[in-house]
This record gives sequence, C-alpha cells and structure tokens, in this order.
Amino acid sequence: MTDKPVFILGIESSCDETSAAVLKDTQLLSNIVATQDTIHRFYGGVVPELASRAHQQKIIPVVAEALNRANITKNDLHAVAFTRGPGLMGALLVGVSFAKSFAQALELPLIEVNHMQGHILAHFITQERAAGGSGSRQSQSSNQKPNSKGGNPQPDHQGPRFPFLCLTVSGGHTQIVLVKDHLDMEILGETKDDAAGEAFDKAAKIMGLPYPGGILIDRLSKEGKVVFKFPHPQSPGYHFSFSGLKTAFLNFINENTAKDPGFIEKNKADICASYQKTIVDILMHKLVQASRDTGVKEIAISGGVSANSGLRNELLDTGKKNGWNTYIAPLSLCTDNAAMIAIAGYYKYLKKDFADQHITPLARMPF
Ligand code: KG4
Ligand code: ZN
Repeated sequence: MTDKPVFILGIESSCDETSAAVLKDTQLLSNIVATQDTIHRFYGGVVPELASRAHQQKIIPVVAEALNRANITKNDLHAVAFTRGPGLMGALLVGVSFAKSFAQALELPLIEVNHMQGHILAHFITQERAAGGSGSRQSQSSNQKPNSKGGNPQPDHQGPRFPFLCLTVSGGHTQIVLVKDHLDMEILGETKDDAAGEAFDKAAKIMGLPYPGGILIDRLSKEGKVVFKFPHPQSPGYHFSFSGLKTAFLNFINENTAKDPGFIEKNKADICASYQKTIVDILMHKLVQASRDTGVKEIAISGGVSANSGLRNELLDTGKKNGWNTYIAPLSLCTDNAAMIAIAGYYKYLKKDFADQHITPLARMPF
C-alpha cells in the first residue's frame, strides 16, 4: 500500500449488469449494480443490442450514485479501472468509451481489467462493518479467528494466501486457475464448450423458467431431493465439458414429458436438486484433483455460479475433509459487479500498469 489512500473508480459493462464502484485502497466504499434481468427475462438469455442500449442509459446515473454513496467527488479519484473483456462487444464498448472519456476529462490514469481476473480478485476486497454493515470480510475462511475483544471472528489476513486455486464459474466461463500473485495467474483447466452457468440457465429454460435460471434452480433445489441421475461428461485433465449434460437433460425432460405432460410440474424441485448436484459434483471432482496434484490447499470459488448454495456447501464440506482453507466471497461480490474491477485496478495502479487512450474492448481476452 502507498502512504496516502488510493481511490479507484471501477466500471463493469461486459454483459447484463451496468456497475460502478469506488474503493479506498482495498476497502469497498460503494458498489452500484443496475441489473437488466427484467429486460432479458422473456428472451431466455441476454439480447446483445438491448444490453448495449441499457448500459448506455444506466452508465452515467450508476457512476454518479457510486461516487455519491462513497461520499467522494470525481476530483478525489486516482484512477479509472474498466472491464476490457471478455464479454459482449457492444456492451463492453459502452463501459470502455465511458471510462476513456471520464479519465481523459479528469486527466486520470486508465486501467484495463480482465473480467475473469476481477472475479478472482474479489476475494481481496475488504468491507468495513460501519460501511457495509456486514463485517470486515465476508469470505468464509477457516483461517478466521476470534478478535481480541471476543467479538465476531476477524480475518487474520486479507484474502487467500498465495498460491491458491480458484474455481471461477460464471455464465460464460468455467476455469480452474492457479493464482500465484494478484496479477500472476495461470489457467490449469477450463470448459471446452458450455460454461457451468450456461448449464444452469439452459436447463432452466428447458423447464420453462425465466432467465437467468441458475438462481431459480438453486432456490427450487432446496425443496427437492436428489433422485434423478445425469451423466458426468468425461474431459481430460482439469478441463470441463457441459454440453453433453445439457443434451442429456433435454432428452430426459422430453422422454418423461412424453409419458406424462405434468412431469416437470410434479417433480420440479427434485429435478433441480438432482441436476444441481450433478453440476456441483463435476466441478468439485476437478477441483479436488487439481488440489491433490498441485498440493495447494488454499481454495477459493468465484463468479456468478459461486453464489450457488449447493456449491458453497459442498466446498465447505470437501474443504473440511481435505484440510483446505476455503474462501467464498459475499453474494454481492460473486455475480458481476464493478468492485471486483476496481480491486484489480488497485493492484495494477500500485504497479503503474496503465492503459492509453487507444485501447479498445476485447470480446475474447486471454489472461
Ligand atoms: O459472473 P456472472 O454474474 O456473469 C458472467 O460473467 O457470466 O455469472 C452469471 C451466471 C448466470 O449463468 C447465472 O445463472 C449464474 O451465474 N448464477 C447462479 C446462481 N446465481 C447466479 N447459478 C447457480 N446458482 C445460483 N445461485
Ligand atoms: Zn462475470
């Protein structure tokens, strides 16, 4: 850290959330997210042109609100960090163009951030009890110890220790990443077709549930039992494949509704519980394998699907059995948000890793 606090504005517009956040060093001051769920709900997925238009409408009020809630003015900022990719090109263009203009007008450094690295670095965001009202850190870490006043557990460090493994699971990506330092990450394995979030959303669509269906499957699962079996697709090393599971699910629904048109309604909760368990098992199997092979026992999960209660519980259980220290971000930092972009921006700011005004978005962006 530097002597004086650093204020970073983060901007996120890669998919269907328009978000702006302010960090004071690693501390979260504000994190405003304007979601577009109601716009895309009845199309069964994100409609790129509608997403771009909604970002255009929301970006200025969302940034104004983020500064307002942080109780600072734009003149207090030290840098502007933005998501360069990966994501939808039209959606990214809105955030990138805004960030460039804003930074140029204020003569601030501009910092490009890879969205997937942002998801991982969300584990290093700290939250003040007074500001967030929910504890200084919310990662459920087995490293937490009671504070000296005998109050709630306080973390004895910020975020996972290096090196750690992060299972990053979102609507567009599924990766196991070896994180050696804040800005030094290696993808050990990733999906070769659909992402875990897509596997949730597509199954929800097949069942007639609105987009995004992941959270609905999670909710329904809580009332159901694991009674149906789905195949575990084979994939080499730490890679994943979910497209075969989606097809198996579609066939399963078609076969059963042909016999009984009321099949989905009668068995909704059990179908969800069984399908969710299959996805969680596939993810955890590879994560256990990666931990065994690398010897790394600091294990984190991040991305929208890390909000899934089945995955969170399974990580804690598997972690106990395997002697892992496990890290789960608070729900508000799992799904897309600009605080994760601002924290990545903070670490890049410390290294003076700045972008110039010629920068353009990348729909596909390697680490
Ligand atoms: O990280 P994210 O917000 O956006 C992307 O970068 O894609 O992840 C969105 C994905 C969606 O597929 C959504 O259905 C899924 O995360 N998701 C969940 C849950 N909450 C969000 N999937 C399962 N259970 C949840 N509770
Ligand atoms: Zn994301």
